[in-house]
Amino acid sequence: MRIILGVGGGIAAYKSASLLRLFTEAGHTVMVIPTRAADEFVGRATWEALSGHKVPDGIFDEVDQVNHVRLGQEADLIVVAPATADLMARAAAGMADDLLTNTLLVAACPVFMAPAMHTEMWTNPATRDNVEKLRNRGITVMEPDSGRLTGTDSGPGRLPEPEAIHAAALRLVDAPPRPLAGKRVVITAGGTLEALDPVRFLGNRSSGKQGVSLAKAAAQAGADVHFIAARMDVPPPTGIRLTNVESALELREATLAATAAADVVIMAAAVADFRPAELAGSKIKKRDDGDDPVIKLVRNPDILAELVTQRNDGRLPRSTVIIGFAAETGDEESDVLSYARAKLEKKGCDLLVLNEVGEGMVFAQDESSVQILSRSTGDVEHATGSKDDVAAAVIARAAGELDGS
Ligand code: CTP
Repeated sequence: MRIILGVGGGIAAYKSASLLRLFTEAGHTVMVIPTRAADEFVGRATWEALSGHKVPDGIFDEVDQVNHVRLGQEADLIVVAPATADLMARAAAGMADDLLTNTLLVAACPVFMAPAMHTEMWTNPATRDNVEKLRNRGITVMEPDSGRLTGTDSGPGRLPEPEAIHAAALRLVDAPPRPLAGKRVVITAGGTLEALDPVRFLGNRSSGKQGVSLAKAAAQAGADVHFIAARMDVPPPTGIRLTNVESALELREATLAATAAADVVIMAAAVADFRPAELAGSKIKKRDDGDDPVIKLVRNPDILAELVTQRNDGRLPRSTVIIGFAAETGDEESDVLSYARAKLEKKGCDLLVLNEVGEGMVFAQDESSVQILSRSTGDVEHATGSKDDVAAAVIARAAGELDGS
């Protein structure tokens, strides 16, 4: 396997010499690309002696070989250790100001980063954002170890031991390929707000957590994600395309536009079925002498059903995978699964993710248990655990629908 070992400028760079040894001893071909700052810590002669390969000088080295593009294209795995705060910030920003960041930008292979920095830098919101961005793009950023740092300080930020980096990085290549690589996925999330007047609205308790987990899982599976967020209790995922909406009508417009270029659409949003028939131009006043106000509601369009109609009449590609969510309860007439099967048929989508509601409410909970119903196979798959676990199961099923398995 061809491995590129990117070395950032940190005192922990010396540990990467052992890491390099582990890779070469396991029979891999390793090319080391140190940043300029890394040269201050470990000399190039060390990398060249241990790897058996010349260390490229930079973007303008061997220009005729188009090194800055070729290295990233040809690699089977890129491991960055230590990944400094600065290096991760440059990678997250998509910068290409040295050979290593150029290589990261063209890389089509798995990328693994082992960070090392002072605790304050690791916990700084700027670094947190950058790490999340990189992870959302499918880059694996290892958690640093906790312990003694360069000075007298101690805490999370220590470069993990070379053996641990070696094992975790190789697991990445042994892992199955990213099933949604190159696929475009639209995810709606949160709850819509239906305005009554300039200050009041009708809303619902959807937290948006499940949608955020789905977006992360889809991005990790390699998808290009477009996240359409109605009102949410949690921040939207970073590093992916985001459209904010309020009402069901706005959500409909944004979703139909986005889905025209999508392979998968996941309707995780809690869409209000009704909206006030009239939107008062000014705040509705309380009149002590008058009758109690009556709010007339009108039906909102069913976006999920409309997506299915558009696919069936050819306005959307037939291959578009459409996924709905349903919160259902059973009753004395029928069990919850039968109601869900009926809803799947009625809505005509490909997968229906069933949340059984009742005693242990679904909204805003961190744990959930769902059943994923497939229309094409009639199969029902159970997924239980954190919202991330449930999201991973839904995304895996979505990938299965796409490739017909
Ligand atoms: N949905 C939608 N547009 C609506 C309402 C719901 O796209 N106006 C989508 C939701 O995003 C979710 C699924 O439909 O994926 C949820 O369906 P549900 O609300 O259970 O369907 P209803 O048709 O409203 O069912 P019920 O008759 O049980 O209320």
